[in-house]
Amino acid sequence: MRVTNLDPMVFASLLLNFLLFIDQVNASVTVQYQLQKQQQMSASIAATASVATYTGEAAYNPKVLIAPPAPDPATTNVQINLAPTVQQAGLSIPLKNPFFGFSIEMSVSAQVYGKNSSFINVPFLNLMANVVERAGEVHIRCGGNTQESAAMVDSNPNGGMISKDYSSVTGTTNTPPIDYTVELIYLLSNISSLVNVKWFLGIPFNDTNFRMQIAQEGSRILGDNLIGMQAGNEPDFYTRFGRRPEGYDVNAYKGEVGQVIEILQDPQYEKVRNKIITPSVASEWNLQDVWDSGLIQENANSIAYISVERYPANNCAAVFGTNGNVINPQDVIGDYLAHSKVRDLVSFYASSTLFAQTQSKPFIMFETNTASCGGFPGISNAFSASLWALDYGLQMAYTNFSEALLHVGGQSVVYNPFTAPPTNVSSFHQWTVGPIYYSVLVMAETIGSSGSARVADLFANDNNDQTPAYVIHEGDSPARVALFNYAEDTTGGHDYTATISVPGTIDSVKVKRLTSKTVTQLNGIYWANQTFGVNFASDGRPMGDLVVDIVTCTPSTATAPDGSTITSSTCLVTVPAPGFALVFLTQSALDESDNAHPTETFATTAYTKAHNTLTVDPSVLATSNGQDATVRKYLGSTSFGTAGGAVGVRVPGVAVYAVSMALGVGMVLRRLV
Ligand SMILES: *[C@@H]1O[C@H](CO)[C@@H](O)[C@H](O)[C@H]1NC(C)=O
Ligand SMILES: *[C@@H]1O[C@H](CO)[C@@H](O)[C@H](O)[C@H]1NC(C)=O
Ligand SMILES: *[C@@H]1O[C@H](CO)[C@@H](O)[C@H](O)[C@H]1NC(C)=O
Ligand SMILES: *[C@@H]1O[C@H](CO)[C@@H](O)[C@H](O)[C@H]1NC(C)=O
Ligand SMILES: *[C@@H]1O[C@H](CO)[C@@H](O)[C@H](O)[C@H]1NC(C)=O
Ligand SMILES: *[C@@H]1O[C@H](CO)[C@@H](O)[C@H](O)[C@H]1NC(C)=O
Repeated sequence: MRVTNLDPMVFASLLLNFLLFIDQVNASVTVQYQLQKQQQMSASIAATASVATYTGEAAYNPKVLIAPPAPDPATTNVQINLAPTVQQAGLSIPLKNPFFGFSIEMSVSAQVYGKNSSFINVPFLNLMANVVERAGEVHIRCGGNTQESAAMVDSNPNGGMISKDYSSVTGTTNTPPIDYTVELIYLLSNISSLVNVKWFLGIPFNDTNFRMQIAQEGSRILGDNLIGMQAGNEPDFYTRFGRRPEGYDVNAYKGEVGQVIEILQDPQYEKVRNKIITPSVASEWNLQDVWDSGLIQENANSIAYISVERYPANNCAAVFGTNGNVINPQDVIGDYLAHSKVRDLVSFYASSTLFAQTQSKPFIMFETNTASCGGFPGISNAFSASLWALDYGLQMAYTNFSEALLHVGGQSVVYNPFTAPPTNVSSFHQWTVGPIYYSVLVMAETIGSSGSARVADLFANDNNDQTPAYVIHEGDSPARVALFNYAEDTTGGHDYTATISVPGTIDSVKVKRLTSKTVTQLNGIYWANQTFGVNFASDGRPMGDLVVDIVTCTPSTATAPDGSTITSSTCLVTVPAPGFALVFLTQSALDESDNAHPTETFATTAYTKAHNTLTVDPSVLATSNGQDATVRKYLGSTSFGTAGGAVGVRVPGVAVYAVSMALGVGMVLRRLV
């Protein structure tokens, strides 16, 4: 770790943290890294050669787009005038960490978490530990489309924790039923015993024989680590998906939630009966109708979270070959580099978050990402997604959301925050950390650990689309400032200097930056000079020396109209094009962001033989949530053979890759602390 321009005493606790970390790194890890570096080089050479004809897993799509032109003239100065809390407009409700969590598709559980409760993926634990270090805990939803027809069984024919019955899949986008054993719940529990992960699960709603085993076993095994049970996933799509007859509406759904709540009155459900998450509506039902139905008000004692789900766009036509418009990612990359787009997306929920406040319930974005049906290659897996997700997260915070879960889908999607290696290459390749994982870490540091941070959009620089800024207040004062620069200019001509005017006298501020050479770059993202490297490069621990910049400020005084003296300090902070800077106005603002919890890390220390078959499951692509009516119609009609809509639609083949296994590497957990 190197902390620049800084009295080492100031960062004594930071240093201690680092020494603990060093202590945990053993020699075998160094060897691993060298091996990985060689592998990375050959992997990137192979990738470069095949961009035009890439047919591999979506998660490693090497396509690089062209950045939108930087604005002319360039913004080179942004004035930020901070005010005490009483004068700052638009502050959110008090927010606590974690704000960003993960929604991990249930069907990819074995790939992501590990094969069973005694075979946990070490890089996954490290990735969670990094978040815990900053946010105290991680919230993960084990669920998604595939939770709806999941069934708990005593055992699977393949002896595994999860099996998917592809024989009963009838349509392209039909959700294959998942049969899972109670081992999955033990696995989640064992993860929580190693890193502080809290879980959301979902009661299957594919039909009204609500299979309650997940609530029974979830509550029995996970106890307080189970923090919510979703009652239905996107019920507004149920008629389109053939799960309910025509005419199914908000009131019908409300009746079903009532039935589940009735079942939960049984004593065995004591620990989960007040943890319901509802309504998880996407985009078909009018939200005001849902709030007007009394669903929340009449079941207030049972409900823990009010939820919605949303993707801003979809890539369904390209992935499934429907006759909807195939979106060329190059045409929409600008939508992910514009503050106004983020505001439009989130402001849609402003009246709903106010409603949630009247009900004293947290409002959660239960599943989201850059685009449904797997995301856009070149956007979802590029630095653009880091900046976008961070702006989106802060905009949700400002708009009084309490949490948001970023979706993880496995090998077949582009937008993963992290991707486990395909099992047949895990002997030498490791995990791939995506751009929005960095956003999760940065968001955790931005919100901080006080539990009462309040966020305001500053509408900076005349509400400029490319240079948004937010302030985060703690108590009565601004504590942190978040500065974005969406422009790309490798000459430095669009870097800007924020002139931050802070109330009171301060000598200096500390700055951490999130950087990449270009917005379109797929690898080479750095947070305070630390990175998780290129594809297949990560064991879940940050690499590189931490660099925190110190910026000296200039105090000044002025005379107010009433004759009193006003003291303020001016701090000049540069923000690269493209990039993001988090400015800590006080030492405690920095301490709160990353010193509260020492990191526990886990090293990969043993090899075992592994054998598995990977199969791409279309339902992990989260097909349901895009905005393209044609696609939704297609999805509803062809998947389930209902009438209408399918005429003229090319029915694509399901992409199923059977991956034959070489000797793989398993990772056996060895706890180093
Ligand atoms: C867990 O998975 C590993 C790797 O596949 C296997 O060796 C081990 O026997 C499994 N343990 C149990 C209890 O199933
Ligand atoms: C719901 O899922 C269960 C478990 O996969 C399955 O047995 C049942 O047939 C499904 N119901 C409908 C209506 O498809
Ligand atoms: C993991 O789960 C198994 C049950 O499947 C249990 O026997 C074991 O003690 C657990 N390990 C930890 C570390 O919690
Ligand atoms: C967030 O909630 C606060 C407190 O109720 C309110 O003043 C503010 O206007 C809300 N913000 C938005 C963007 O709706
Ligand atoms: C960033 O970290 C690398 C090590 O990965 C180090 O060589 C480099 O000097 C660091 N940058 C700065 C500005 O300290
Ligand atoms: C892994 O599986 C993929 C897909 O079948 C194949 O293209 C690749 O060559 C395999 N890699 C190894 C190292 O076996």
